[in-house]
Amino acid sequence: MNPLDLVRAEPGPAFTVSLDGRPIDVLPGRTVAAALWAEGITSWRSTRDAGRPRGVFCGIGVCFDCLVTVNDRPNQRACLVPLAPGDSIRTQEGTGHDD
Ligand code: FES
Repeated sequence: MNPLDLVRAEPGPAFTVSLDGRPIDVLPGRTVAAALWAEGITSWRSTRDAGRPRGVFCGIGVCFDCLVTVNDRPNQRACLVPLAPGDSIRTQEGTGHDD
């Protein structure tokens, strides 16, 4: 069953953002993490030292595992940042500062 049906949600129309240039449709109110999960994407960052994949761990803004670049601002917590039409998301390597 669709989770939207379970809570009788009636979200507004979807809008489009991009992930590394790829268009993604997003329902209003979703965070970056929720939008990426809805696309089946669970990892969008690699660690500084070992390059290990990371995505959501705590989901409440505490662990900083979910860091991502949004509208050219690196190190945004994907689990907390709500999306707006036209936002540009980039996967992030290392510190996210192109070093
Ligand atoms: S998942 Fe822990 S801060 Fe986002």
